[in-house]
Amino acid sequence: MIIDTHILLSLVCFSFIIKTAHSSNSSSVSNSDSFVLACGVSSAANDANGLNWAPDSKFLSSSGNSITATAQSQDPSLPSAIPYMNARIFTSESTYQFSVLPKMRHWVRLHFYPSSYSNFDSSNDFFSVTAGRFTLLNNFSASITAEALTQAYIIKEFSLGPIQSGSLNLTFTPSSIHKGSYAFVNGIEIISMPEIFEPASMVGFSDQTIDAENYALQTMFRLNVGGQYIAANNDSGVSRTWYDDSPYLYGAAYGVTSEAERNVTIQYSSNVPRYIAPVNVYSTARTMGPNPKLNLNYNLTWVFQVDANFTYLLRLHFCEFQLWKDNQRVFDIFINNQTAQSSVDVIALAGSMGVPVYKDYAIYVSDENSDDDLWVALHPSASMKPEYYDAILNGLEIFKINDTSGNLAGPNPMPSPLLQKALSQQKARSFAPSQSNKLGIIIGAIAGGLAGFALVTAVIVFLNYRKCKTDGKKSSPAGWLSFYGRSRTTKSKITGKSSHLSTLGGGLCRHFSFVEMKLATDNFDESRVIGVGGFGKVYKGIIDGGTKVAIKRSNPSSEQGFHEFQTEIDLLSKLRHRHLVSLIGACEEEDEMILVYDYMANGTLREHLYDSQKPLSWKQRMEICIGAARGLHYLHTGAKNTIIHRDVKTTNILVDDKWVAKVSDFGLSRTGPSLNQTHVSTEVKGSFGYLDPEYFRMQQLTEKSDVYSFGVVLLEVLCGRPALNPRLPKEQINLADWALSCNRGGTLEEIIDPHVKGEINAECVNQFVETAMQCLSDQGINRPLMGTVLWNLEFALQLQDNPDGPKPVAEQKANDAYLMHTTLMSIEEEGEGTVEMDSSKAFFSQIVNPRALPGIIIVLYVSFNTILCLLRLY
Ligand SMILES: *[C@@H]1O[C@H](CO)[C@@H](O)[C@H](O)[C@H]1NC(C)=O
Ligand SMILES: *[C@@H]1O[C@H](CO)[C@@H](O)[C@H](O)[C@H]1NC(C)=O
Ligand SMILES: *[C@@H]1O[C@H](CO)[C@@H](O)[C@H](O)[C@H]1NC(C)=O
Ligand SMILES: *[C@@H]1O[C@H](CO)[C@@H](O)[C@H](O)[C@H]1NC(C)=O
Ligand SMILES: *[C@@H]1O[C@H](CO)[C@@H](O)[C@H](O)[C@H]1NC(C)=O
Ligand SMILES: *[C@@H]1O[C@H](CO)[C@@H](O)[C@H](O)[C@H]1NC(C)=O
Ligand SMILES: *[C@@H]1O[C@H](CO)[C@@H](O)[C@H](O)[C@H]1NC(C)=O
Ligand SMILES: *[C@@H]1O[C@H](CO)[C@@H](O)[C@H](O)[C@H]1NC(C)=O
Ligand SMILES: *[C@@H]1O[C@H](CO)[C@@H](O)[C@H](O)[C@H]1NC(C)=O
Repeated sequence: MIIDTHILLSLVCFSFIIKTAHSSNSSSVSNSDSFVLACGVSSAANDANGLNWAPDSKFLSSSGNSITATAQSQDPSLPSAIPYMNARIFTSESTYQFSVLPKMRHWVRLHFYPSSYSNFDSSNDFFSVTAGRFTLLNNFSASITAEALTQAYIIKEFSLGPIQSGSLNLTFTPSSIHKGSYAFVNGIEIISMPEIFEPASMVGFSDQTIDAENYALQTMFRLNVGGQYIAANNDSGVSRTWYDDSPYLYGAAYGVTSEAERNVTIQYSSNVPRYIAPVNVYSTARTMGPNPKLNLNYNLTWVFQVDANFTYLLRLHFCEFQLWKDNQRVFDIFINNQTAQSSVDVIALAGSMGVPVYKDYAIYVSDENSDDDLWVALHPSASMKPEYYDAILNGLEIFKINDTSGNLAGPNPMPSPLLQKALSQQKARSFAPSQSNKLGIIIGAIAGGLAGFALVTAVIVFLNYRKCKTDGKKSSPAGWLSFYGRSRTTKSKITGKSSHLSTLGGGLCRHFSFVEMKLATDNFDESRVIGVGGFGKVYKGIIDGGTKVAIKRSNPSSEQGFHEFQTEIDLLSKLRHRHLVSLIGACEEEDEMILVYDYMANGTLREHLYDSQKPLSWKQRMEICIGAARGLHYLHTGAKNTIIHRDVKTTNILVDDKWVAKVSDFGLSRTGPSLNQTHVSTEVKGSFGYLDPEYFRMQQLTEKSDVYSFGVVLLEVLCGRPALNPRLPKEQINLADWALSCNRGGTLEEIIDPHVKGEINAECVNQFVETAMQCLSDQGINRPLMGTVLWNLEFALQLQDNPDGPKPVAEQKANDAYLMHTTLMSIEEEGEGTVEMDSSKAFFSQIVNPRALPGIIIVLYVSFNTILCLLRLY
């Protein structure tokens, strides 16, 4: 099996190389003039991904005014020591000279890791970089940029048109305005690439096109819309990195993501060769959703923050893999509120299903009202009366085009107000450590050590405060936890026993002393116990003079506990998601192992299903299931490696004060199968009643085991009874078996929880039951992916809200339903009491009105990891 896949893969690659090499000279993916240089090193070395980085000195035309240096500390979020730990520092203008193929376009990637190098003050790094006649960076400060973007390192990617002279001069010049400024660089990549640019029409000026062929461009965003992160070494030969688009989605309308069925093959053509974008971009998409009424009411919108006074080239990638005929899905494209193209029909453009196409548009972004945003919006073309009122997008690239003076440089980004506040708090903290916090040291960095080989250019965290609400008194440290953990500024000095915490967590984990833990819990007073598990007891605690937390203290005698403790820190400290419980920190001292989490005011899902005075309404139940599904979907697909939870059950789904579901308890979780494996063999663990029978038989763990367990959770929610109830007659003890048999006999309706039976509409229950039954398929292969489960549940909820009747949908109501797609990124502001949370609708009241959206986070080229850790914090 495994070998087959390898052969197949290499065949695919091989034929691709042959094909491109033959098709035309300019499109061949040749690496004949590639330079991959680690600056300041004395000999070549490989990075963590096996890419070889050569020393840079022989390309310097005069090396007299540069010195080499090694960074004094290594941030844990660096993907690799090469090329970041070594730098070349320039105190006066210096030039690298490369001889390049004159007819080829080239990538120029510059890697910067701002750190303290010998006796240079890291805040004096102001410099410019030019490549031939183009200015790539000007008055650039890597340290300011990194701080504003909360990135340890920065990668800038440019693409230079053919250089006729065959000689590329890359010049670094320290700023003459700032005293004592210097320039530096850690890594330089210059790689020839096919000419991927062509004339693009200017939005709003139908007669004007802009021909980017001779221009220099800077990559601003490159998104695999509706899909996942694609590493540079997994790109289609052009070493680009593609990111998830969800951080850029605007407002409440999230659409739905989908993936091509296996039987649909992506067919490249001479118009769209494979190097334009990899298969993964075209085989995943975001569409508006199944409900035409909702779709007509909203625009599927992405917002990007860009530098003003530049022209941008936008490339929209399309590939239809669900529909096959003309006029099935026809939509309009708006860019900055202007119609870029109306009535786009991907099938009409491409000719058939599975054939990729792309469209390029150019637009000038001016500086009016300091609105330097780029809006991309899609809306169904109602006038064409298509079969489906829907829109689709598979990929999106945004490039900045050089201005008339050959400049590409923009200003340094400013930290967002919230970040500025967090930073100043952090500084205050490090200057005046509190007494109770004897160690007083916070470990880690924003991004855990997960990082893949990521192209990181920049992140802009752009927080758009709600205008009406400026009361920021109630700061929530947990929400901005990541900023406490910036090891770049707060160096970790962990002593003795705690030492491996720092390596374990990869960073994002605050360290607590045992004394603090005792204070927080009244010396582990029994009255504070809110839960007891295999690991030990869970206490309600108060830290930082008011923040409620849940404190899980292990039973010191438990050996197994230690392992689970490590797993939990290791995984959770790297994962941040609205639907995963957040780990705030840990304490490991004197044989104590204590984990500190966000406090979940409403306890476990189970408590609200049965044994409860006031069982949840059907809608609340569904919303919680959707939240939990989202959390699990993220575990399965959002991280670099699949993470299998292994213990999905109603007691591990917690609910916060706003009834937001959070998946918890990662003690048993496992990193899933890697590239050449289909499963992980392991000892069977989990909870009875939820255990996947296939996993039990084969002892092979896949993410489908979680899907099975989640199916049991869905039944528990529907039927309002535990997964196992030994007091019932034999055939009813196991809920999954019982429900499957009732479903076969057509009597499932009879076992629905009477508390909610009256509320559920028939279409919703059918969709819900069908989803649960699919999850419970005996064989993993027949079970849906968590993403599909999520989609089905959202659809079920829409059916509940809007059971397809002819009665018109009230605006507000309509919004509610598609808001389901938004929970992932909806951002809560720091203050808490602003939203009333007693009704299920209030759940989303913050985002019902897009104007009230408290924040948008915009990311330009973030390492994948940082997206996880930082942006999905919410
Ligand atoms: C490809 O390169 C070869 C040799 O450099 C040249 O003879 C040929 O004309 C080129 N073909 C095209 C299509 O440019
Ligand atoms: C590149 O720089 C070298 C020396 O600094 C200079 O001799 C050469 O003319 C430059 N080339 C171009 C194309 O500017
Ligand atoms: C490359 O893409 C394949 C196809 O989806 C994926 O399975 C694999 O994990 C990716 N590899 C890396 C290194 O990202
Ligand atoms: C692919 O398979 C699905 C069901 O598995 C089917 O509905 C669809 O028509 C197939 N598509 C093609 C292009 O064969
Ligand atoms: C853009 O250009 C206008 C007019 O030349 C100027 O006033 C403004 O400061 C520029 N904005 C930026 C961000 O450079
Ligand atoms: C586009 O329209 C939206 C909503 O009307 C507005 O908030 C936004 O500022 C506009 N964007 C641009 C670039 O004009
Ligand atoms: C979609 O965006 C366009 C352009 O900004 C705007 O004219 C239109 O009103 C929007 N439609 C909806 C439903 O928001
Ligand atoms: C980019 O630079 C080139 C060369 O300097 C110039 O010809 C071109 O007009 C510039 N592009 C724009 C959009 O001004
Ligand atoms: C250079 O950048 C710094 C920091 O962003 C800014 O304060 C300063 O005004 C800039 N200087 C110039 C000349 O643009």
